[in-house]
Amino acid sequence: MKIIVANWKMNGDIDLCDKIINSLKSAIYPESIIICPPSPLLFMFREVKFKYGAQNCSTNLKGAFTGEISPSLLKSIGCSYVIIGHSERRNLFCESNDYIFQKFKLILELDLIPIVCIGEKINERSYYKEVLEEQLKYFIKHGDLNKVIFAYEPVWSIGTGIIPNLDDILEVTSFIKMQTQSKVLYGGSVNKKNATEILNIASIDGALVGGASLDPNEFYEIIKISEKIK
Ligand code: 13P
Repeated sequence: MKIIVANWKMNGDIDLCDKIINSLKSAIYPESIIICPPSPLLFMFREVKFKYGAQNCSTNLKGAFTGEISPSLLKSIGCSYVIIGHSERRNLFCESNDYIFQKFKLILELDLIPIVCIGEKINERSYYKEVLEEQLKYFIKHGDLNKVIFAYEPVWSIGTGIIPNLDDILEVTSFIKMQTQSKVLYGGSVNKKNATEILNIASIDGALVGGASLDPNEFYEIIKISEKIK
């Protein structure tokens, strides 16, 4: 099975947690499923077999940072993963590569696994390599990316229902893999209809699913598709 990460963004509630936990009870490879709900819901997943993670964290471990969430607190409640660098955080909250890198270092120091999102905007498509190289350069300089997961999310594909053609996904994710030697996910409008063709792309280790992860039946179908793929 490939890795399937659910990014609920600022959606979901206790009821959805119950439904997802219930629907994933029969999952064959729970270790390959990572649910990332809003942080106040993380406690709901403490007893589950699958993994869970946060959508963001602070650049600090503790202190006077009102509204922030420490990665060490996330670790203490059983999170294994933290998504960082999502395009919504880069664009809506002005997070820079340098700021994202501060989080990255802390996450690794705590033995958590960062899921680092990168991707080009629509007007950057013709020079995507330069854009991705710029986003990747801090992480590559850091060195050991063995445990790190990168998620290629073309910004223009997020929430639009439009996905790149499969050859383009293969080309870009192969490029990221070559640069990082890390696992690479694809994210952007993944759903039960396109999951088979996307997850079968050789260079992809899994998918980062947004909207479709909020529907327990649809998400479960994506999991079932992934379970059949080596
Ligand atoms: P959608 O699957 O809703 O396009 O969102 C993708 C995403 O941003 C996951 O992080």
